[in-house]
Amino acid sequence: MNFPDKLQQKLTKRNELNALRSLQVPSDLVDFYSNDYLGFAKSKPIFEQTHQLLLDQNFMINGATGSRLISGNHRLYKETEELIAKFHNSEKALLFNSGYDANLGFFSAVPQRGDIILYDELIHASIRDGIQLSNAKAYKFKHNDITHLEKQIMSVRELSNSKETLNEDSLRSKSRTQTSNVFIITESVFSMDGDSPDLVAMAKIANQYNTYLIVDEAHALGVFGSQGKGLVQQLSLEKEIFARIVTYGKALGCHGAAILGSTELYTYLVNFSRSLIYTTGLPPHAIATIQIAYTHLQEEIIDSLHNKIQHFINEIHRLQLTDVFIKSNSAIHCCIISGTTKTKAIATQLQQKGFNVKPILSPTVPEGEERLRFCLHSFNSKDNISTVLTELKTLIHL
Ligand SMILES: Cc1ncc(COP(=O)(O)O)c(C=O)c1O
Repeated sequence: MNFPDKLQQKLTKRNELNALRSLQVPSDLVDFYSNDYLGFAKSKPIFEQTHQLLLDQNFMINGATGSRLISGNHRLYKETEELIAKFHNSEKALLFNSGYDANLGFFSAVPQRGDIILYDELIHASIRDGIQLSNAKAYKFKHNDITHLEKQIMSVRELSNSKETLNEDSLRSKSRTQTSNVFIITESVFSMDGDSPDLVAMAKIANQYNTYLIVDEAHALGVFGSQGKGLVQQLSLEKEIFARIVTYGKALGCHGAAILGSTELYTYLVNFSRSLIYTTGLPPHAIATIQIAYTHLQEEIIDSLHNKIQHFINEIHRLQLTDVFIKSNSAIHCCIISGTTKTKAIATQLQQKGFNVKPILSPTVPEGEERLRFCLHSFNSKDNISTVLTELKTLIHL
């Protein structure tokens, strides 16, 4: 059967841009690329304790057997959601099959026709896709720019009459926007930049203008806050945030995600969130792993991660590489190279020297901002960090 021409043309174009993606089997090189910040994905104790928990509770089943609304809501779900809610100081937690599903399920269901979504321009693809499915109107604000966010809010709230920050369409629907809800979405650690917004200022503005703030904590869970509770809890902002998304495929080393929020939000999502309703639930094993992984979030391992992050930052300064790196104190550090071919070539050379560093290319990041993304882990050695940065310095100054 012929492969459709239009699709073939898209593949050809990608290839011409030297940006064709393919799936690779993970290698044994030094890990500067995975989201397994605390090494939980390979933790034998987590694996064994999960197995034991399933045996103790007599969960000898391999799958959920149906949607959570039909047969799939096994009792581990309830127990684990209660533990998650308590850990995160939230009224409720609702588990989803992945962070992608959680964001899709939230944004397609919560903002209504006539509502407004204001999103950071670098927001994750899962949120963008959720927004696409929503009937609300969406506008971006400049990355981590509180002033621009406020301008956008004022535009949609009609407190500003001369700020032409929105398109004509929104201005035409002025009367409706007055009564509409405004949802603001950001990430506490940006996945492709590693930086964070000023969440305190953002929460203050969100509150001042009577809007709903949503924070995706995918890359902050296990990294920021006591016991890695996330940036929102580190800043004691739980009560200011309408919903938080925590995901388990990053620092917790397993799979799934939860939306944290009020009881009303929980009930609403159970009723209207299609990515929760129309899919098979997670198997007991996945939920048990989440539960056990939470018990491993202890200060010692998180301190060890921060120790490596600090060493990385110190080395960037020592090697005078600060200009090429995006400022970050998270586990994600990005070196802007610019240009697909050059970025890929440097990544390949680092890989040949034994370090798995991934190139992040357009269209994942804006054209011209192609970069190398270094993910740091509690288990990375300081020697490896120093060596990979020294190699990088040589390569980018060729
Ligand atoms: C900020 C952010 N949100 C959501 C997701 C999706 O999470 P998951 O991998 O669990 O689908 C990711 C993962 O890439 C992410 O970086």
